[in-house]
Amino acid sequence: MKIAVCGKGGSGKSTVVTLLANQARAGGYRVLVVYSDESNSGLFRMLGFDHPPVPLMELVGGKKSLKQRMAQPSVLAENRILLEDISPQHLVEKDGLRLVSIGKILQSLEGCACPMGVLSREFLKKLVLKADELAIVDMEAGVEHFGRGVETSVDSVLIVVEPPLESVEVAQKIHDLASGIGVKNVWAIINKVPSEETATKLQAELKKRHIDVVGHIHFDADVFSSSLEGKIPEMG
Ligand SMILES: Nc1ncnc2c1ncn2[C@@H]1O[C@H](COP(=O)(O)OP(=O)(O)O)[C@@H](O)[C@H]1O
Ligand SMILES: [Mg+2]
Repeated sequence: MKIAVCGKGGSGKSTVVTLLANQARAGGYRVLVVYSDESNSGLFRMLGFDHPPVPLMELVGGKKSLKQRMAQPSVLAENRILLEDISPQHLVEKDGLRLVSIGKILQSLEGCACPMGVLSREFLKKLVLKADELAIVDMEAGVEHFGRGVETSVDSVLIVVEPPLESVEVAQKIHDLASGIGVKNVWAIINKVPSEETATKLQAELKKRHIDVVGHIHFDADVFSSSLEGKIPEMG
């Protein structure tokens, strides 16, 4: 299964990706986390790695030449990519958890992020997973990536929603876009809820918009303060 974790900036996508990855690994899955958000690079620390993998973007010679170089010999030129095919330089692995990173904009003049979207989409499309393998994609914030078709290559979209209504509106857009392009499962998870009452209200708001809610996560002061160190504590 390939799950894209989407939502408004700061809603908790990377936190949810980390919790989900740890949970799935504990449940016996081989987990690949795909980092597809070029704006924030701390996910490797949250997942417990000492250093990030070399972005796949470097295999295609940087952003400017993406189109011409995608066909050059490398794992990305294959039609099917298995986890084993990705070199240790581009895939860091620890205790059954793997991380690959699509790439970041390193120079301010490089323009828009479209090539990252194209590379995410192509990589996810070609990635072949076995029954006990799960890919979890930490998507960039908002809905722009839908225009680049990144979600056409995933079977599930998990939308992280936090209390401000604005976040529910973004969730609605993501839900409609994902359903519109035929993503099989579109779910929401409510994050940072201060009370059961807020969770119930948010759940009702989402239900009104025909969005299935799979659960909620309380606001946790330890999670928040650990983020200062770029880490995430163990959660029950
Ligand atoms: N359940 C939670 N309780 C408390 N703080 C949270 C929770 N989930 C996320 N946060 C905090 O919110 C901030 C944004 O989370 P992050 O996962 O980086 O969001 P995103 O990836 O969507 O930008 C971080 O400081 C993080 O520690
Ligand atoms: Mg993030």
